[in-house]
Amino acid sequence: MKILALESSCDETSAAIVEDGRRILSCKILSQIEMHKRFGGVVPEIASRAHTEAVSTLTRGALEEAKLNVEDVDAIAVTYRPGLVGALLVGVNFAKALAYASGKPLIAVNHIRGHVASNYLCHPDLKPPFLALVISGGHTSLMMVNSYTGYETVGITRDDAAGEAFDKIARVMGIGYPGGAEMDALAKAGNKKAIPFPRAVVKDAPYDFSYSGLKTAAVNYLHTASQKGEEINRADVAASFTAAVCDTIENRLSHAISDFNPPALVLAGGVSANSHIRETVKKLADSKNIPLYLPQLSLCGDNGAMIASQGYYEILSGNTSDITLNANPVNDKFVN
Ligand code: KG4
Ligand code: ZN
Repeated sequence: MKILALESSCDETSAAIVEDGRRILSCKILSQIEMHKRFGGVVPEIASRAHTEAVSTLTRGALEEAKLNVEDVDAIAVTYRPGLVGALLVGVNFAKALAYASGKPLIAVNHIRGHVASNYLCHPDLKPPFLALVISGGHTSLMMVNSYTGYETVGITRDDAAGEAFDKIARVMGIGYPGGAEMDALAKAGNKKAIPFPRAVVKDAPYDFSYSGLKTAAVNYLHTASQKGEEINRADVAASFTAAVCDTIENRLSHAISDFNPPALVLAGGVSANSHIRETVKKLADSKNIPLYLPQLSLCGDNGAMIASQGYYEILSGNTSDITLNANPVNDKFVN
């Protein structure tokens, strides 16, 4: 079964075609980073406009690369939540129109589930159940994936996402947007014990995350140093900040592995590209004797292929949508 999928939840427009949930036939991605860079973050109105300009060309490109026509695909999948609502609406409306005009089924895909599914594209042996952590620019979600479409969200960030915090500190240190990858490189040269940044826990919610306190502590550290005219060691800041993020991830995963006893552990999302986080989680998985699955670096960020992959499993479970589908910006524990 061939699924054509569209992704437009944030600052990447993507169209991709995937066969049977596992084999990428084509994947076109247009990043808007250059447009948002000068503002230091994603400007929602610019994102929506850029998605509108790109979506049909990318869709045509994905079909051409796969040497297919719309008639040859079996269904149209689209990210409908969570994300920037104006950005999501571009993909949702385009997919609805395409599905209506071609008479193909429409599949609404949760972006977080899509990130998890990026692992199905590079690990043929991976199948649920497993414990999954999605860490991205906009989301931090810990889930028990009981089946391809049976998700139980057990932990979520109460405030900022991990990637948001990385990007903010990078920006205050004068690194361009998005700063996650550069923070990763910088941290390699720093001392992770140099600055004692906080590791927040959420009372009575052992799997929830909170990164706003860490973000504020790091911003205050940088501002105080600058007000005193002190030279900061950027590598030490990056290393200490990254160590705090690694510790919170290790702590939540360790609890969840003990409590849920999952047969495998899966990481996904833009921040799962971070080499320090990968190393921390690998060590944890080895110590708990549990197999770890990580997406290849090219599939960590937003892409349509992961939406097509999850779309395949949604349609197999009978989860199709109709012309009344709407975008929904919210990510919460209770609705998948
Ligand atoms: O998954 P993604 O493309 O978008 C969302 O769904 O939000 O993730 C983008 C995020 C950005 O915040 C970026 O800085 C971060 O992933 N990122 C990283 C690394 N590479 C990308 N964060 C930390 N270390 C990295 N190596
Ligand atoms: Zn994402």
